[in-house]
Amino acid sequence: MKQSAERTTARGGMETAYGYREVAEGEKQGLVDEVFTRVARRYDLMNDLMSGGLHRLWKDAMVTWLNPPRRPGWKALDVAGGTGDIAFRILDASGGNADVTVLDINPSMLAVGRERAARRRVDDRITFVEANAEELPFEDTTFDAYTIAFGIRNVPHIDQALAEAWRVLRPGGRFLCLEFSEVDMPFVDRVYDAWSFGAIPRIGAVVAGSAEPYRYLVESIRRFPNQENFAALIRRAGFDRVTWRNYSGGIAALHSAWKL
Ligand SMILES: C[S@@+](CC[C@H](N)C(=O)[O-])C[C@H]1O[C@@H](n2cnc3c(N)ncnc32)[C@H](O)[C@@H]1O
Repeated sequence: MKQSAERTTARGGMETAYGYREVAEGEKQGLVDEVFTRVARRYDLMNDLMSGGLHRLWKDAMVTWLNPPRRPGWKALDVAGGTGDIAFRILDASGGNADVTVLDINPSMLAVGRERAARRRVDDRITFVEANAEELPFEDTTFDAYTIAFGIRNVPHIDQALAEAWRVLRPGGRFLCLEFSEVDMPFVDRVYDAWSFGAIPRIGAVVAGSAEPYRYLVESIRRFPNQENFAALIRRAGFDRVTWRNYSGGIAALHSAWKL
């Protein structure tokens, strides 16, 4: 699969790519944090508007592939878990039995997640942790599953985040990453480009009061390695049986891997 030129490769580059802008090493995380602090309160609504509700289907598919067991004691970590979408689905799919931790670096996103958990009366079933995916505050081999949805492209040092995923998973543990990826269908890619660069920042301006954070989101999608290059990064972190599935022509891809 040919990768478009603006994407970074498995050799790296996301550390200093803030959308299409090159920033100094160490600067990106602060800029990303500003974006999510600004969008937190409108994040869920904007997700529906920007994806026409498709993000719900992709997230459902992620948790279906994860297939959490319905036994107590099974532990899942959802990194960059934001407002809790993946955590709620994992908990539901496990029949309320899974022990779920949501980790995110941004307190504003976590605050929305905690409020949603309280409204669903599952706040006693989910632990919210404010921390960096590059430095997880957990012992080695703690979790049965590590999930991350639309999060990893925002993390500056993807190799460190993947190494941490491998470290905190127990042997036999599952890694699943849902992320925007490379569209591989001629008609879909043109419609998707027009929607991404034309409509999304405008919707952001009207609904969330600012176009800029949404320009970052769209551009960051285009800098992220394509399916094959990201699979290579996952393999390099030590994972086995790395595979992926495309959704909606590759607009999103779900990578799966195992710590064996
Ligand atoms: C696009 S949101 C995804 C939220 C949620 N997973 C979802 O799918 O709706 C990206 C999230 O990544 C978080 N994030 C960015 N950098 C991070 C880091 N270094 N460590 C942990 N979370 C990070 C942001 O705060 C934000 O909540």
